[in-house]
Amino acid sequence: MKAAVIDAFGPESMLEVREVPKPEISDDELLVEVHASSVNPIDWKIGDGMMGDRYGDEFPMILGLDASGVVVGAGANVTGFKVGDEVFGRSTDGTGKCYAEFVALNPGTVVPKPEQISHAEAAAMPLAALTALNGLKNFGALTPGQRVLIIGGSGGVGTYAVQIAKNIGAEVTAVCSTGNVDLVLELVADRVIDYTQQDPLETDAP
Ligand SMILES: NC(=O)c1ccc[n+]([C@@H]2O[C@H](COP(=O)([O-])OP(=O)(O)OC[C@H]3O[C@@H](n4cnc5c(N)ncnc54)[C@H](OP(=O)(O)O)[C@@H]3O)[C@@H](O)[C@H]2O)c1
Repeated sequence: MKAAVIDAFGPESMLEVREVPKPEISDDELLVEVHASSVNPIDWKIGDGMMGDRYGDEFPMILGLDASGVVVGAGANVTGFKVGDEVFGRSTDGTGKCYAEFVALNPGTVVPKPEQISHAEAAAMPLAALTALNGLKNFGALTPGQRVLIIGGSGGVGTYAVQIAKNIGAEVTAVCSTGNVDLVLELVADRVIDYTQQDPLETDAP
């Protein structure tokens, strides 16, 4: 299969598309044909060498933590998914290995892809949206009616955080720069603070 690989950490870590062995799945894994993946900060940070060898140092290395695609194989112990299912999710295998034609995924970290979103839209979601969800629900224990300040409300994580917080029923104030104020309001934030005009931490709550 083809994959986009890096051969070193640091400035020379250019992605190169080349032939690599197709992954073999265990009895507990799904083999997914990747239709779309996405780029998160962690991907370029690993490539740049900013994470040291925390994710290993075996090259060629395949990055990419998010994928959306179609199930083409299922291990003997897998339940709930079958060949042909459209799924999306987050790889838990080190650097992810989703920048490839096929990836082995843990069925516990994928879900069926809704028909109304494309593979590209689905692949943009897992790590960024799960980060937002984890922060708001698991760490923040956000409940309906609470007020929440989302710094970086126009970013990869923040755009999901604004929507998830509103869905929980919180009152959302989001922070972004001038050019993204309309975007954040479209995501239905109750209030936006433009950090180029005001210090969000010095701004009185309404
Ligand atoms: N993306 C992920 O999946 C993920 C996962 C885990 C952790 N993280 C971490 O979460 C953080 C955000 O990641 P991201 O992917 O959402 O980044 P991003 O897409 O680059 O978004 C950055 C956000 O920060 C805002 N911002 C920039 N300078 C600011 C300032 N001086 N004051 C207030 N806001 C400012 C930006 O607003 P404007 O663009 O409007 O200027 C934007 O909303 C990073 O520390 C990242 O390492 C990300």
